[in-house]
Amino acid sequence: MCGIVGYMGNQDATPVIMSGLNLLEYRGYDSAGICTMASGAVEIRRSSGKLVNLERLLKQQPLHGNIGIGHTRWATHGKPSIANAHPHKGGSVIVVHNGIIENYLLLKDELTRRGHQFLSETDTEVISHLIDEKFTADTSFEEAVRQALKEIHGVYALCALSEKDDKTLIVAKSGSPMVIGIRGNEYFVASDMPAIICYTREIVIMEDGEMAVIRNGTVKFSAIGGGELEKISRIIDWSPLKAENKGFPNHMLKEIHEQPQALRNVVAGRVREEEGDVVLEGLNLDDTSLKSFERLCLVACGTSWHAALVGKYLIEEYCRVPVDVEIASEFRYRDPLVSRKTLVIPISQSGETADTLAALREARDKDAHIVSICNVADSSIARESHGVIYTHAGLEIGVASTKTFTTQLVALYLLTIRLGRANGRIDLRKGQEMIAALSGLPALVEKTLGLDSQIEEVACEYLTSWDAIYLGRGISYPIALEGALKLKEISYIHADGYPAGEMKHGPIALIDVDMPVFILAPRDRHLVKVQSNMEEVVARGGRVVVFCSEGDFKTGKGAEYALQIPWAGEALSPVLFAVALQLLAYNFAILKGKDVDKPRNLAKSVTVE
Ligand code: M6R
Repeated sequence: MCGIVGYMGNQDATPVIMSGLNLLEYRGYDSAGICTMASGAVEIRRSSGKLVNLERLLKQQPLHGNIGIGHTRWATHGKPSIANAHPHKGGSVIVVHNGIIENYLLLKDELTRRGHQFLSETDTEVISHLIDEKFTADTSFEEAVRQALKEIHGVYALCALSEKDDKTLIVAKSGSPMVIGIRGNEYFVASDMPAIICYTREIVIMEDGEMAVIRNGTVKFSAIGGGELEKISRIIDWSPLKAENKGFPNHMLKEIHEQPQALRNVVAGRVREEEGDVVLEGLNLDDTSLKSFERLCLVACGTSWHAALVGKYLIEEYCRVPVDVEIASEFRYRDPLVSRKTLVIPISQSGETADTLAALREARDKDAHIVSICNVADSSIARESHGVIYTHAGLEIGVASTKTFTTQLVALYLLTIRLGRANGRIDLRKGQEMIAALSGLPALVEKTLGLDSQIEEVACEYLTSWDAIYLGRGISYPIALEGALKLKEISYIHADGYPAGEMKHGPIALIDVDMPVFILAPRDRHLVKVQSNMEEVVARGGRVVVFCSEGDFKTGKGAEYALQIPWAGEALSPVLFAVALQLLAYNFAILKGKDVDKPRNLAKSVTVE
């Protein structure tokens, strides 16, 4: 998603903005741009593709000035191109924007009729023209922005400058994230804290409907609708982890290999072996409150939604509490049936996914209690929840979720133990058993990572396939979905995940000699059934690769390849099977020469609908 960095102070703005944009690279982008202002003269540089192209351009045509705004663009309205890259200038006003302006076509038509000329296909350009039109001799820049924003419907975080007021930087937010860092009389604006935390740890987090006017070494906050606001800054005490490859060829492989440690981190300090229980420090619910909920509702997008599906199996199985799993983008518009008797659990790596955040707000407005599962500290979803369980996976740069998925699975496992102990469905012995199973997990992940060369061989064998099917049953079904998503997003091979028992109701028609079928067959209660499903595929000439449990030699009969995954018990087997499928997708993508860290069209943090 788009990234914004702004600066106003006494140093040259360009290096500050470029270093910030580099740190926001993980969000995904297709073009970038920067604008600085010196003595009322504005200069803009934009380029398509990677930031290095903009850096090259800046070497040839440097920019100077103590005020500036920069942007990495993830295309929504208008293709990726230099013309559509931000900043956009309308008259005297220059804007960078993250979000979507829903009524931009209407506004564009009206502005065009009034003589404005547009140079891009973006919704953002409309904002700059609209502000420019309002910025007259009788109206201040600040008032012009306020008036323009009243006419805009949609989601935005934006920074605006004007040639007619060279001492002012205006920031506004409604729906997309924005923070402001303060160091003396210097101000740093960014979509995400890691972009500016090396300059200052004093941060003000902007909330929806707020505006900041930075002028002459001061900042004034107000509601967009009018009325000054007292905002309190906070000192950030966590350190953003550096994105280093540590000898790995890319971030994704490094993050796959970080899983043993990430899984130790999500458990660290939380288990009480003797009591057969766990302590979830941010849960903020005592036993009486926790067991009082009539149902749970897990809501998420993408990979996090797959984690939620695993969570349903765990919680219903061990705690006997009904669990609904919702896709956030559907939930938010469905007038969902939740109440104060519902515990709603948004799951999000970034904590900024627009749909998940909107679902959270919808549920909160309906009086549901919210406990989120998040990776990013102080993210919007974490802040807006009544409680939060952090996954402690560390920084994930690769767009494809890997360690953040398996840590979500373990966070849900911990929550299952806590809820089961609170409502009495998990007794002391079962609790101790479940905790004991966790202690061996990192080593089993290490062992699974050791299967890489066998997995690479499989990827080589099926490299020319255009489609693939993943099958799983029970708790492995969501892992089949996740395996298929991983393959699609980084190798661009079409893949579908199905519950194995559903094959005969349609997808079996797809089986032929060109279609690899990846079957998940852990040693759990579904094994016999999955074996039958496998035979149905083999009988129709399908090419089967089976992921079975270590030592289950018979399971592989009829398959072209059988990969033996360590056995961690039914409830934790999704973690190990997920790791194997991450390696499979990774190998396909690398053999096809794809950029696994930045797959086309995708963004790490999806802050628009
Ligand atoms: O940050 P979130 O967990 O809320 O992100 C949700 C999805 O966008 C995300 O899981 C996406 O599907 C993954 N990048 C897939 O690997």
